[in-house]
Amino acid sequence: MQLNLVLLGPPGAGKGTQAVRLAAAWGVPHISTGDMLREAVRAGTELGRRAQAVIDAGRLVNDEIMTGIVGERIARPDAQGGFVLDGFPRTLPQAESLDALMNGRDELVVIDLAVPDAELIRRLSKRRLCTSCGLIVGATQGDPPAVCAECGGVLFQRNDDREPVVRERLRVYRRNTQPLLDYYGGRTTFRAVDGTQSPDSVAAAAADAVEALAPVRRSA
Ligand code: AP5
Ligand code: MG
Repeated sequence: MQLNLVLLGPPGAGKGTQAVRLAAAWGVPHISTGDMLREAVRAGTELGRRAQAVIDAGRLVNDEIMTGIVGERIARPDAQGGFVLDGFPRTLPQAESLDALMNGRDELVVIDLAVPDAELIRRLSKRRLCTSCGLIVGATQGDPPAVCAECGGVLFQRNDDREPVVRERLRVYRRNTQPLLDYYGGRTTFRAVDGTQSPDSVAAAAADAVEALAPVRRSA
């Protein structure tokens, strides 16, 4: 049995936070297109050079490029038992391409993390990432910490987490990605989860959703 899971949700909804947990629990790779693009930027590849300005402006990288990257990634041996996709698809053409890529695989399970804009803006202004272990760090009160609690590594803020860019990312989300809720919403393998709960409660709700939807996939 495969777990082919898509995590949907606006910027800051907690896709990365939950994807790490779900991927570990199910023993499948966490595939974050944002992380893959940021890695390409760091490595200075042709893709990274083309993507950097787009990411820093809060816009979307071209559908054809993104579909190519994801198609190549999910074809690798470690994704044969499934995957947790974080940040893909985020347009209708990407969703249609993903359906085409699923030919012969178990049906997609889709979980949407719903969080209101004011909370998204608050979370993203406080988010830090660890340069050493990649941990996503948040702060519910006060300032974010200076070092990683897991490994002591230096924390940094993403360029696209500055407020004007966050607002553009939210506009782009509404225009290009929110329509996917209609695209997937009628499927029996779709579930919306309240992303405003504590990270542990969201994790429990997402795990319950995956458990509940898996038998639907098995008997389909
Ligand atoms: P990407 O990296 O995917 O960014 P995003 O979708 O904007 O989402 P974020 O990573 O900002 O948020 P998240 O939902 O992962 O939240 P997190 O768990 O970190 O994409 C970046 C860019 O790459 C795009 O703008 C685009 O340019 C490009 N790109 C990527 N994919 C693409 C594609 N398919 N097509 C075209 N372009 C693409 O949590 C956020 C914060 O909240 C953290 O601090 C966390 O600690 C905290 N937090 C999490 N959960 C909770 C909770 N329950 N309660 C309180 N705090 C919480
Ligand atoms: Mg993320």
